[in-house]
Amino acid sequence: NGDLFPASDAEEPKSLTELNKIITAAKPMVPGGKKAVLGEGPAGAALAFVGEQPGDLEDLQGRPFVGPAGQLLDKALTAAGIDRKASYVTNAVKHFKHEERGKRRIHQKPTMGEVKRYRWWLLKELGFVHPRLVVALGATAAAALEGAPVAIGKSRGKYQFGDMPGFVTIHPSAMLRMPDHDARSQAFADFVRDLKAARKLAH
Ligand code: URA
Repeated sequence: NGDLFPASDAEEPKSLTELNKIITAAKPMVPGGKKAVLGEGPAGAALAFVGEQPGDLEDLQGRPFVGPAGQLLDKALTAAGIDRKASYVTNAVKHFKHEERGKRRIHQKPTMGEVKRYRWWLLKELGFVHPRLVVALGATAAAALEGAPVAIGKSRGKYQFGDMPGFVTIHPSAMLRMPDHDARSQAFADFVRDLKAARKLAH
């Protein structure tokens, strides 16, 4: 598949550990990216969650979903009866794409081309983890898993990513951007409902 990076001279990882070594050693493929944030959680987890890319705090701590979006995800997982520690959590893009503005580091959305360059790693990673269900958190994750854009509004819910049983839902940071309190509470309730449905599908 011409979309998939790296090209034919790629080392072929035999395990998640080997893959993670390759990812850690590789040059970032997005502007601003420095250190890779690897996926976290047990191989063989029933559920795998895929986000967009690490944010500022994830980049600093070297762990996925530990910032504000991660806290909201944790809260929703708890409400849905899902144990994060028993789940696998990763990102479509493994580096924090950002722009430096003074002391601030401003998140930048990865392009479809960038997402596709990271896709080879993501598919390998999920191949090793082999979850019963992969949950795409938001449009970037869904596009990365699908290899083409996916409309969240239309495709929300159970979804098949190639041969991987999947589920499409919103990204928790979408709720952080909602100024209206009622809209945010409703979005959170809908998100928890999705996570419960995903939990049942992965049972
Ligand atoms: N948003 C993401 O998509 N992933 C993270 O790890 C943190 C925030």
